[in-house]
Amino acid sequence: MYVSHLECPKCASTYQSEQPIHLCRCGSPLLVRYDLKKVRRGFRKKALNSRKENLWRYRELLPVKKEENVVFLGEGMTPLLPLKNLGPKLGFSSLYLKDEGLIPTGTFKARGAAVGVSRAKELGIKVLAMPTNGNAGGSWAAYCAKAGIKAVIVMPKDAPIINRKEVAVAGAGLYLVDGLISDAGKIVGRAIAEYGWYDASTLKEPYRIEGKKTMGLEIAEQFGWEVPDVIIYPTGGGVGIIGIYKGLKELQEIGWIGEKMPRLVSVQSTGCAPVVKAWEEKKSESTFWENSNTIAFGLNVPKALGDFLILDAIYQTNGSAVAVEDEEILRAQQMVAKEEGIFCCPEGAATLSAAIQLIKSNWIKPNEKVVLLNTGTGLKYPETVHTEPPLLQPEDHLSRV
Ligand SMILES: Cc1ncc(COP(=O)(O)O)c(C=O)c1O
Ligand SMILES: [Zn+2]
Repeated sequence: MYVSHLECPKCASTYQSEQPIHLCRCGSPLLVRYDLKKVRRGFRKKALNSRKENLWRYRELLPVKKEENVVFLGEGMTPLLPLKNLGPKLGFSSLYLKDEGLIPTGTFKARGAAVGVSRAKELGIKVLAMPTNGNAGGSWAAYCAKAGIKAVIVMPKDAPIINRKEVAVAGAGLYLVDGLISDAGKIVGRAIAEYGWYDASTLKEPYRIEGKKTMGLEIAEQFGWEVPDVIIYPTGGGVGIIGIYKGLKELQEIGWIGEKMPRLVSVQSTGCAPVVKAWEEKKSESTFWENSNTIAFGLNVPKALGDFLILDAIYQTNGSAVAVEDEEILRAQQMVAKEEGIFCCPEGAATLSAAIQLIKSNWIKPNEKVVLLNTGTGLKYPETVHTEPPLLQPEDHLSRV
């Protein structure tokens, strides 16, 4: 294992990583740091040739020490699909979609859960608790079930119904709150203070990011260690975009990719766009978004704890932040399904709406290589598609199409 310590990106305090630890004393999330010089010497690209196609192939850049602690459900190495029908119609010569809908539990949250739960198991954790907008709860419940850890999950009562069911079927404690994820977070915070449970809230433990950064590592590997020009990411708590940026920086430091970084784009819904607002105002932190509301439920995070890290990733890569309307998201979801056969989650579909805006404004050039992150399967959001098929009687005939 190459982890050297945990580090605060705000005040640069350092902590050792062998105890369960949450935020820095200054209140900031902590990041896992590796001895990258040692990784550079000990980890060669060719080692990957003989490794399985899952995210643990990058174990030198992951925080789990012993293989016996790895909780594995098949996570990682999702396909990077060229959108050959849709791309040219919209003016792109190289538009790709990385499809996280094909991962255990149906969303990219499985990556954070796989690494977060494996490390919690390694640290001897018996009970953990977290607020969630739904998908992370489903993933963490599943991985905790496999790890033998008791999970307590609190989600807004408006979260997708399927998320309740996946949490319940995995035997986790499930609670709904008449409010937002921020309200769920307060309830979880009180229980943690009282019972001493492990706090698995977004960015309040350092290991979830490590799982999510593997999306960045995979994109680099799938393009033969040449990063694309633009990566568009649907942003709620921001762990995905922060992770991708962190993973790519680490690849630079171990010499696996060159100086070029993709421009990172954060997409949010106009119903909840604190990061976009902060970016437009050139601020380094966001402010709480009042009365937030969007069908892309994973994006309904009125104020992310790691907002300064999201904004830093965007500024450092000359990226952008774009807000899109819910109706555009639903239109984009239909387009990807009709042209490419992929039923995206609304959060994932939002990346296409953003790409359309950005090529129209010429911020993306037609010949640039652009990656959309579809963070989950549309099958988890059946209510986003309305159908009224004709009801036939057994003796009826179909008309010609
Ligand atoms: C499907 C989906 N996409 C995107 C997000 C936003 O994720 P992040 O916290 O990485 O910004 C979520 C969060 O709940 C989600 O469920
Ligand atoms: Zn600090």
